[in-house]
Amino acid sequence: MSAQIIDGRQIAASVRAEWKLRAEKLIQSGGVTPGLAVIIVGDNPASSIYVRNKVKACSEIGIFSEVHSFSQDTQQQDVLDCIHALNQNPHIHGILVQLPLPPQFENNRVITAIAVEKDVDGFHLYNIGALVTGNAQFLPCTPYGVIVMLERHHISIEGQHAVVVGRSNIVGKPMALMLLERGATVTVCTSKTRDLSQFTKQADILVVATGKPRLITGDMVKAGAVVIDVGINRLPDGTLCGDVDYESVKSVADYLTPVPGGVGPMTITMLLCNTILAAERAHAGINYKYKQV
Ligand code: GUN
Repeated sequence: MSAQIIDGRQIAASVRAEWKLRAEKLIQSGGVTPGLAVIIVGDNPASSIYVRNKVKACSEIGIFSEVHSFSQDTQQQDVLDCIHALNQNPHIHGILVQLPLPPQFENNRVITAIAVEKDVDGFHLYNIGALVTGNAQFLPCTPYGVIVMLERHHISIEGQHAVVVGRSNIVGKPMALMLLERGATVTVCTSKTRDLSQFTKQADILVVATGKPRLITGDMVKAGAVVIDVGINRLPDGTLCGDVDYESVKSVADYLTPVPGGVGPMTITMLLCNTILAAERAHAGINYKYKQV
């Protein structure tokens, strides 16, 4: 039997439709247009595409957005000054610094300059600490998107053995924490884990985010597993593929996400949700105990 394909485009479209109504309500009854500021430093081509897609998605859902572009050789202080001004700007509810930053930047100095109530990426150390302790204010967008995909397919997490392959701050680590919070037994591996298949074969839910094309093959997956492929890799011939070998896993797993059209469309969707949520909270006057130092 062939796995049921989890269609990220379809789920993203329905989530966006729901949140568009929330944005409209906020605009019409609250007089507040959700606002997102995106900071990009340098000319990384992939980052430029991501930022363009984020801006387009904002305008489609009714979020005001503005982009602050800095050159590759910008001093960190210039970016910090920009963030401080955005923190004070009442029209901006979400601030996002596109990663990676050039080498002269200290990621944590920059990200922790963002007001926690505007940290729609969920990367501020406060928000990561809140996530660790089960009090997340903003869920990081990609793992949040994975959770929504599971929920929309009524795939239960509690009591399941979830194996996460990948330990990045953006996906692997927060993904493991979110699954743990929802009652899964979680194993975290990396692409370097010795005898990786010994672990992946135990997974009821397998999430792969390593950036290694087709790392996971059918013989590494338990029959009936749910396999979520976060990878997106461009092969030398120009085609895209995930970290999961789609063809061999499809006949073993019960559920599988495709690449493209799987997790990818969910990431920006959850960013839009977090921005609207931030605007709703600001409008409702919800304050955080945490204060910027
Ligand atoms: N670079 C790659 N993914 C992301 C993301 O989700 N947020 C930001 N800010 N930068 C990224």
